[in-house]
Amino acid sequence: MSPEPPLLVVEDLVKRFGGFRALDGVSFHLAPGEVLGLVGPNGSGKTTCINVISGLYPPDGGRVSYLGHSIGGVASHVLARRGINRTFQSPKPFLSLTVRENVLVAATYGNAGVAPDLDALLASVELDTLADRPAGELNSAQQKTLDLARALATSPRVLLVDELAAGLNPAELGRMADRLRALAAGGMALLVVEHLMGFIDRVTDRVVVMNAGHEFFEGTLAAAIKDPEVIRVFLGGAHG
Ligand SMILES: Nc1ncnc2c1ncn2[C@@H]1O[C@H](COP(=O)(O)OP(=O)(O)O)[C@@H](O)[C@H]1O
Ligand SMILES: [Mg+2]
Repeated sequence: MSPEPPLLVVEDLVKRFGGFRALDGVSFHLAPGEVLGLVGPNGSGKTTCINVISGLYPPDGGRVSYLGHSIGGVASHVLARRGINRTFQSPKPFLSLTVRENVLVAATYGNAGVAPDLDALLASVELDTLADRPAGELNSAQQKTLDLARALATSPRVLLVDELAAGLNPAELGRMADRLRALAAGGMALLVVEHLMGFIDRVTDRVVVMNAGHEFFEGTLAAAIKDPEVIRVFLGGAHG
């Protein structure tokens, strides 16, 4: 088990949309310096899980605790100040603002009392040469990277990452993986949703596998890919 107490604890989390339970009792924990992968077929509830933890939707049941306090239903902008932020599967930057201005706006909503060096931040994600370009000129992979920079500008202690790797070329994937590992090495806790298993293998310490709104496996990726239930769900998803 991790030597550090968890920063984030999710217990029996439920989220309903009408009569449909998009989250149907999800439980996991996340410690400082840890990268936890959240994997599962399309529609299994991964994004909804990030949406509820990050305050976009209140939970309909269960509990999310951060630093020992219940945060279920606390608004996203309040959570950003307290050190929880996320990236979006489909980022929506302010298209007419420059890359630097987008990050500057995010920083003003950030973790209270921490003022990141935005130029260093943009350089660290290789957006420095695009800093003065409108975000609308970026391609989709660059917009995802900008979304990461926007989240990092708030100096999170918990970072929730939703399919950041999609659209990156192999060299960019490797650098993104190194970047996420470096954030964890600095003490950040990361929850990483991703379909690319090579990326998950490179980035995560362990994985939670979800299906139909709840987790049914937790452990290393190496153990997950030998688990008959994991294999059944993934092959079933691929053929379903
Ligand atoms: N705002 C919403 N309103 C209604 N249904 C939703 C909403 N968000 C997600 N869902 C449904 O919840 C399920 C899980 O979606 P999602 O969390 O996006 O899955 P994943 O990220 O694992 O692909 C899907 O069936 C999806 O259609
Ligand atoms: Mg999703």
